[in-house]
Amino acid sequence: MTKRVAVFISGGGSNMVQLLDSMTGDHPARACVVLSNDPGAGGLEKARTRGIATEVVKHQDFAGDRPAFEAAVTAALGPHRPDMICLAGFMRKLTGGFTDQWQGRMLNIHPSLLPKYRGLHTHARALEAGDTVHGCTVHEVTAELDDGPVLGQAEVRVLPGDTPDTLAARVLVQEHRLYPAVLRRFAAGDRTPVYLREGQS
Ligand code: GRF
Repeated sequence: MTKRVAVFISGGGSNMVQLLDSMTGDHPARACVVLSNDPGAGGLEKARTRGIATEVVKHQDFAGDRPAFEAAVTAALGPHRPDMICLAGFMRKLTGGFTDQWQGRMLNIHPSLLPKYRGLHTHARALEAGDTVHGCTVHEVTAELDDGPVLGQAEVRVLPGDTPDTLAARVLVQEHRLYPAVLRRFAAGDRTPVYLREGQS
């Protein structure tokens, strides 16, 4: 049975585009909706041009009441009947009340080799630490931020002279490879982690 996937975004949605464009042919999943907390998210138009339904639930309308925001998200998702959720550049923390409902059915991509560098500014932190290897992780989402079971990682070598921006750009290239590979496997019911490396075909 084809899995129905909701993709959550907050910005440009470059990971979302890769996911949407990967779900074709014999892929075991199809996108059913793209949801954003920001009506100005550039990814919304990219979803629409791909014929994918979109929903916007503005977190500002709930003045910090996270459960109320999440109830509105759940209501907006309802008609689209998603089987699972992919967070793709979604910048709102989700409470345990929401993550529990989607336990084992919600993925996120994070720009570090978890468990290193949970949270923000991951590239700067890796550079400050003098790491020679960095990368990105796709994981199942739990109530703990950036903490669920790892479903895939891609490694990036840190180069002399790297800045957070140059490193982020190389990591993003790997994100775009990793997330579709993990989604295809996960949607087929296979949780075997995917490990990728730069330059490896
Ligand atoms: C990416 O670096 C991703 O790791 C993080 O959000 C950033 C922007 O993603 N979660 P996108 O271009 O909006 O997909």
